[in-house]
Amino acid sequence: MTTPITVMIANSQFAERERLKKQLATHAGIEVVAEAQNDRECFDLATRLHPQILIIQDELPVLGGLNIAEQVSERSSETGIILMLSNPAGEEMWHKMLRAGIRDFITRATPADLVIEEIRRVASARKSAQTPSAANIEKPKSLIITVAAPRGGTGKTVIATNLAVALATHNEKVTLLDLNLAGGDVAVLLDLMPQRTLGDLLPTFVGIDDDIMSSVTAKHSSGLSVIPAPLSGTFDSAVMSRPLVQNLLRYLRDRYTYTVADTGYPNLESTLAAMDSSDIILVVVGNDLPRLRDGKQYLKNLIAANYPKERIRVIVNRTGVTKEIPGKEVEAILEFPVTAQLPNDDELVGVSVNLGQPFVISAPHKPLSRVLKNLAESLVISSTPKPPKHKSAFTFFA
Ligand SMILES: Nc1ncnc2c1ncn2[C@@H]1O[C@H](COP(=O)(O)OP(=O)(O)O)[C@@H](O)[C@H]1O
Ligand SMILES: [Mg+2]
Repeated sequence: MTTPITVMIANSQFAERERLKKQLATHAGIEVVAEAQNDRECFDLATRLHPQILIIQDELPVLGGLNIAEQVSERSSETGIILMLSNPAGEEMWHKMLRAGIRDFITRATPADLVIEEIRRVASARKSAQTPSAANIEKPKSLIITVAAPRGGTGKTVIATNLAVALATHNEKVTLLDLNLAGGDVAVLLDLMPQRTLGDLLPTFVGIDDDIMSSVTAKHSSGLSVIPAPLSGTFDSAVMSRPLVQNLLRYLRDRYTYTVADTGYPNLESTLAAMDSSDIILVVVGNDLPRLRDGKQYLKNLIAANYPKERIRVIVNRTGVTKEIPGKEVEAILEFPVTAQLPNDDELVGVSVNLGQPFVISAPHKPLSRVLKNLAESLVISSTPKPPKHKSAFTFFA
């Protein structure tokens, strides 16, 4: 028999602890090894026992669950944290959770079998993050690349679109998924006028099959398949739930060699779900001090939330303007290697966006196009596996 997953419960209410214990007792593969009623007890026990899972109440007295969970994570890297939310996770809560390095949660209403599933998933993710197995470093046969950023207006859509088109020149099986449900503009940037979009599948979405997916997939002249978001922001982003996005990406992974996902706000469930399913997370940051500071905090949050560092590639966008911070300093501020620097080119990007012509095709020799094409080439899956490159952009793309 395999050893059970060790779980600790931190909750101020006796009845809640008992209820959870009862839910978990039905499963032989899970063992509750400790209980705590407040943050001090929680910290002491968790850092002594190093449970695989800590289920912690968000309102745990005195300082609150998030606060103490962050401290436990720092001291016990083997412990995966699941937050027990008193209220359903709203945007603000997501943001706080991500800042505290937590992205897994349950509520009182979560049924027992889903609680068990969540425990198993978090424990196994934690284990593989701790021991990089051959499977983890092996090059995958397909790649999901999510483009994310600490804030809007950073260039995610421009980059995702041109990157996907550049990849489509290498491979016929490339898809671009626009997860920006609150008003995606991927279709506009590609001059497509889709009959149907992701929005047509929602919110009564029941399942994914080839018929449904082909009805929402548009084809760009480059060969790229595009799954557009609704052009106007008439949808509540919350309907793109984590399971839905993960199903969608699983489906696309089976059918495409490359899937590029453009995302909306950083703390949306759909953005986090896409990042969870991705082999590569391109983090786009702006090139001035406030944006670099944002970028630094965002990268820190991603690492704290257990996104493996080797999956993250930092792209600094809109470089080459006057009085900019030198490249080496950018890496020092971000405390992260930079994979590519994209020059600012108002005219090229402006014309490209307005005409709906990706610049990697319309002006392939411009410096911005060249850097994006290099970036695409660096992501192309070769038949002979190579170890990942960790070269800095300041030498790699010089
Ligand atoms: N390298 C660049 N040079 C000039 N303008 C750019 C560049 N990258 C993005 N932009 C402009 O910045 C704005 C925001 O870009 P967009 O891709 O829509 O950001 P996001 O998707 O992150 O919200 C757009 O007006 C776009 O044309
Ligand atoms: Mg965008």
